Amino acid sequence: MAQDLLKGKKGIIFGALNDMSIAWKVAEQAVAQGAEIVLTNAPIAMRMGTINELAAKCNNCPVIPADATSEEDLQKLFEGAMAHFGGKIDFVLHSIGMSPNVRKGRHYTDLNYKFLQTTLDVSAISLHKTLATAKKLDALNEWGSVVALTYIAAQRIFPDYGDMADAKSLLESITRSFGYHYGVDKKVRINTISQSPTITTAGSGVKGFDEFIAYSESMSPLGNADALSCADYCVSMFSDLTRFVTMQNLFHDGGFSNTGVSMEVISKFEKDD
Ligand SMILES: NC(=O)c1ccc[n+]([C@@H]2O[C@H](COP(=O)([O-])OP(=O)(O)OC[C@H]3O[C@@H](n4cnc5c(N)ncnc54)[C@H](O)[C@@H]3O)[C@@H](O)[C@H]2O)c1
Repeated sequence: MAQDLLKGKKGIIFGALNDMSIAWKVAEQAVAQGAEIVLTNAPIAMRMGTINELAAKCNNCPVIPADATSEEDLQKLFEGAMAHFGGKIDFVLHSIGMSPNVRKGRHYTDLNYKFLQTTLDVSAISLHKTLATAKKLDALNEWGSVVALTYIAAQRIFPDYGDMADAKSLLESITRSFGYHYGVDKKVRINTISQSPTITTAGSGVKGFDEFIAYSESMSPLGNADALSCADYCVSMFSDLTRFVTMQNLFHDGGFSNTGVSMEVISKFEKDD
């Protein structure tokens, strides 16, 4: 369904590890809509994942490794992308999350605080570093659009999400704060998309994820939003059709966030007479 929504636009996509990654689908949809892209991921993900396959599918776009917690790597990434495009960038997808506490099964009430720092740095402060680097280099065009992916555990407690909930709260706060400053200075807009639970490498790291996906499905009037639909929403946020949307947390969750309880869930508690 080529509609050229992103024709002439140039973007950087963080976080495509393998073909389950949400960023993978965003890259494919952005290119299908006419965008030129540069892919990036942490150096270790280059070895563990299959990003080069994605690059081949995306008109042999460049892949520039960058640890999103390293300002030096980020500077090289933006400089490399601008050199490749021969100019500034129109959109950025931040699709990065990782918690050593969740990975190692540390309970939220018994966190390893060094791990917590890593969780916050990788999953939230990396957005600030990305934006600060772009701003210092004046790398983004006016009306440029930055989207970061988040989860509703930033607003409500989901016990197994652990310290990632705190990271997502910070990510959404950075989105508002930086969105103000970048908007005033350069008309760059910054939003988060709060996605339904989705089966990916990061998603599956959360304990009890399969049961949780089924719960979420039965609590969402439209059902869980899948990764491809999330990619479509990201594309619309990168396009000129959403120029005045900024500093928002946008729920892409089939209605989950506004549902108190569904009849499907209630029926599971019905007693036989
Ligand atoms: N899967 C879900 O259920 C779900 C739901 C809502 C939001 N999200 C968010 O979507 C985003 C993408 O996750 P996903 O589900 O596609 O999983 P994923 O595992 O495919 O993607 C996570 C990415 O983060 C990258 N990353 C980790 N540390 C990094 C670092 N230091 N520098 C650069 N990149 C680094 C990984 O290499 C990987 O590509 C994350 O922010 C996640 O929290 C996921």
